[in-house]
Amino acid sequence: MAHIPFSKSVSARLRDSVFVVVIDNPPVNALSADVRSGLMAALDHVASLDAATGIVLTGAGSTFIGGADIKEFGKPSVEPMLPEVIERIEAFGKPVVAAVNGAALGGGCEVALACHGRIVGEKASFGLPEVKLGIVPGAGGTQRLPRLIGLVAAIDLIGSGRAVKTGEAVALGLADGIATDPVGAAIALAHEFTGKPLRRTGVICVPPAEDPAAVSAAEAKVLAKSRGQSAPAEAIRLVKATGELDLRQGLAEERATFLRLRDSSESAALRHIFFAERAAGKVEGLDKASSRKIETVAVVGTGLMGSGIAVSALTSGHRVIALEQTPEAAASGKARIAETLDKSVRSGRLTAGGRDDCLARLQTTAEAKDLVKADLVIEAVFDDLTVKTDLFRRLDGIVRADAILATNTSYLNPDAIAAATADPSRVVGLHFFSPANVMRLVEVVDCAKTAPEVLASALAFVKGLGKLPVVCGVTEGFIGNSIFSAYRREAEFMLEDGALPQEIDAALEAYGFPMGIFAVNDMAGLEIAWARRKRQAATRDPAARYVEIADRLCEAGRLGHKSGRGWYAYPDGKRTIDPEVTAVIEAARAAKNIASRSFTPAEIMSRLLKAMVDEGTALLADGVAARPGDIDVVMINGYGFPAHRGGPMFAAEQNKDQPHA
Ligand code: 3HC
Repeated sequence: MAHIPFSKSVSARLRDSVFVVVIDNPPVNALSADVRSGLMAALDHVASLDAATGIVLTGAGSTFIGGADIKEFGKPSVEPMLPEVIERIEAFGKPVVAAVNGAALGGGCEVALACHGRIVGEKASFGLPEVKLGIVPGAGGTQRLPRLIGLVAAIDLIGSGRAVKTGEAVALGLADGIATDPVGAAIALAHEFTGKPLRRTGVICVPPAEDPAAVSAAEAKVLAKSRGQSAPAEAIRLVKATGELDLRQGLAEERATFLRLRDSSESAALRHIFFAERAAGKVEGLDKASSRKIETVAVVGTGLMGSGIAVSALTSGHRVIALEQTPEAAASGKARIAETLDKSVRSGRLTAGGRDDCLARLQTTAEAKDLVKADLVIEAVFDDLTVKTDLFRRLDGIVRADAILATNTSYLNPDAIAAATADPSRVVGLHFFSPANVMRLVEVVDCAKTAPEVLASALAFVKGLGKLPVVCGVTEGFIGNSIFSAYRREAEFMLEDGALPQEIDAALEAYGFPMGIFAVNDMAGLEIAWARRKRQAATRDPAARYVEIADRLCEAGRLGHKSGRGWYAYPDGKRTIDPEVTAVIEAARAAKNIASRSFTPAEIMSRLLKAMVDEGTALLADGVAARPGDIDVVMINGYGFPAHRGGPMFAAEQNKDQPHA
């Protein structure tokens, strides 16, 4: 039978008496109004088509269904709504089988759950990531998933939003089978079901009460990671209700919760970040630049940063040449990289075979000439301009003319480093965050002379590492450290004005930061910033306000966690308020005749946010950041800004009519 269109993005064809319905709504087959109405029309058609004994639902391209169309959120709703479509599928008189060819996420997973069977292709995955958008599943996910896989597993999946791949999906009872041709296998399953009572997920009894301790443990694990967010707790409440409410009541409660959370500021913030993360790596006009193939990556320097970068490149399939100054240093670099890979094996993130494969692609050397094979060289040596310019000058004569040179500097001017080379157009900044094998964020610095195809190649490389690139221009500290410095300065002003480190940290932590700024400084160590301040002392504007408290602490040997004392004391490793620090702060106030005043947590946050936003606004004006969302993405992914607040620029926009944050 011919191909029948039901809407712009849904069409079907009869195959072996089964109607194969294909959703083709690029890029991710989201359940737009057009898809929903197309699905309804296809169901109507098959209901009265004697020639069709069942339906197979599948997605075009590499995704099954990526979920509800997030772009429709906040707009007037258009019938039919997703729960209606899903209920129709579940109640359908003929078998409906999902051929899950790729990701079945959110509403896509809910569609699959309502089908009478599920066959997965090798690239399939299931997930209900709604909590990551500040909402709960809104089309039956919280009610149907526990009926299929039990409370404990459902709390884990829905509460964390994590997706499961094929093997786990089968083990959990989410999938009936794996097939290289999921549509063919789904047609066969539909035939098997014909004439038999259909398995309707919604009428399955929730598996008998599981060990209450296991349920509580799953719940505690989710809640421990959801600081300040309400969606995970709401999702757990709904999942647990499947044991008490019937399906209809449960669905009604779920929908009401979904609608309430969808309109919350938490969800608006997380949706903003979802789109901002995808926009951050895009540069207008750059899609025309072709990117170079990067297979072999050289990493110069194998300290904490260099070895992290090497591990990241190895685990994403690259060949890596790690260069050190001496054979001994190269051997320790190799050991450091191997140890990091071993750690990933121990934590289950990498298989032993995967580690061996990575090590087989690693070459460590003390011979710079070995870098001739590199497509990209990333330097991660000591952050000193002379060291870096000397290195780049030397590399110039060694690496291929088409190799890209990247600097991982945090504070130096990459244009100055590029100027030391014969061809600055091949120099780009790649500012990784430590530990580089774990942190997703990379600031990709578009230097004054970086060629478009070099920038495009760097972006493609970072995305290929599974990381999150944010393009920025040149300024001291790029986006992240510029804002971090501004808000640290403001925090120190407040110390002089009357707040204590523990009060500022408590305000930040209550706002949702995992750790306050002074505790973070202690963890990172105070000496690097101290050295910078000393370097800058000669050129500092004498009229500018300068707080000496941190200098006094450093002079007293209080360099943070590793020296056992910093902004706090750490007896037995535990962060503790130290009266000595309070005395240093009080002395600094007295020396400047500052009458100390008290601050509420709201005032503290208001001043810190304002400092971030003022700096962010300056970065936008200077073209260092292209969009406010880029700043938000950097602060959330690199500096612990709580994602559910949407980043400083978003939060300021939301709060602009309120007196305090
Ligand atoms: N709605 C609208 N647009 C979406 C979308 C969605 N659900 N998912 C992805 N997109 C868009 C992205 O914004 C991006 O657009 P752009 O090209 O203009 O920047 C494009 O699709 C491609 O997305 P990615 O860059 O993320 O593509 P990947 O191939 O890397 O990943 C994916 C594909 C795994 C499907 C990933 O996009 C993803 O995780 N999407 C979100 C899934 C999700 O959260 N679904 C739940 C939605 S809420 C829901 O379903 C509520 C329900 O319970 C009622």
